[in-house]
Amino acid sequence: MQRVFSGIQPTGVPQLGNYLGAIRNWVRLQDDHDCVFCLVDMHALTVFREPAQLRQDSLAQAACLIASGIDPQKHVLYNQSAVSAHARLGWIFNCVVRLGWLNRMTQFKEKAGKDREQHSAGLFVYPALMAADIHAFHATRVPVGEDQKQHLEIANDIAAKFNHDYGVDFFPTIEPLIPPSAARVMSLRDGTKKMSKSDPSAQSRIELTDTADEIALKIRKAKSDTEPLPSENAGLAARPEARNLVTIFAAMSDLSNDDVLARFGGQGFGPFKSALAELLVEKLAPVASETRRLLEDSAHLEQILREGAARANAIAEPIVTEAERLVGYLR
Ligand code: TYM
Repeated sequence: MQRVFSGIQPTGVPQLGNYLGAIRNWVRLQDDHDCVFCLVDMHALTVFREPAQLRQDSLAQAACLIASGIDPQKHVLYNQSAVSAHARLGWIFNCVVRLGWLNRMTQFKEKAGKDREQHSAGLFVYPALMAADIHAFHATRVPVGEDQKQHLEIANDIAAKFNHDYGVDFFPTIEPLIPPSAARVMSLRDGTKKMSKSDPSAQSRIELTDTADEIALKIRKAKSDTEPLPSENAGLAARPEARNLVTIFAAMSDLSNDDVLARFGGQGFGPFKSALAELLVEKLAPVASETRRLLEDSAHLEQILREGAARANAIAEPIVTEAERLVGYLR
């Protein structure tokens, strides 16, 4: 059975992009893969967080993943900082990755903007730690949204350079699993910007714990345009907001955009938005209520994560110990 690894930053409640781009596919992969899911709190630290907030977000994120269908008994769910293999292999990979490769990372450029000098070194070397996350488990399949594609390419480049430099065939090639649709869910306020947990406007995203009223309001206020919906997907090409809403509808109901437009084409946004809000409430309300229930017992959640960390450690420790032997550390 192939091993899946994926991670999510505990920096707030997951939003619809995380759900459609990643979490929903993680849930599906559990049927026929050996899965490791990680709350990447070390990555979250690359931008300053209040300690109490990081702890709270880690618990909320764990609750949300379990409520979405991640099974921490059959698979592994834990937080990254609890397993030292990440930091140890991350350092080795910092010494393998080239500055030129990191300089090409678009996500760093977007996050750092013009103010590059003021950002943490951690934010810059983030892709090396991400490569270590995956390779510490010898995982071969990584389900992510489209924004992580470049990070997975560099993870393969780092592994290939390690194998070459040390004359071994130790780290396997990883295959990104990017969903065919909704791999990049856009902001509800601006169809050219990615939906994100860190967008200052809460109106720009649906969070998995939003109430039915919040979802309805956000969809009603979502930016659209003045034309009726087209009857085919090709008609959405130059209409980013309309395309985003139709894509969300299609992904949430496992239909194609053309199927959705066969039903709503020719109509204005009013009836379509009502149906979309209803669909989102129907699918997400059970996740929200289960998340709230799980959060009432944080000791139980912490116990789940501790057990997950012990199992993650049992997998990653021998792999990273071997990598340390290969580079020549004295033991
Ligand atoms: P993060 O926390 O930003 O997002 C978690 C997952 O959600 C996907 N995603 C989206 N998909 C579609 N549309 C969107 N608007 C959207 N926003 C987020 C992301 O692609 C991701 O799959 N670097 C990673 C975390 C990470 C990781 C790893 C992932 C660390 N180590 C190892 C895989 C393997 C990140 O910041 O994800």
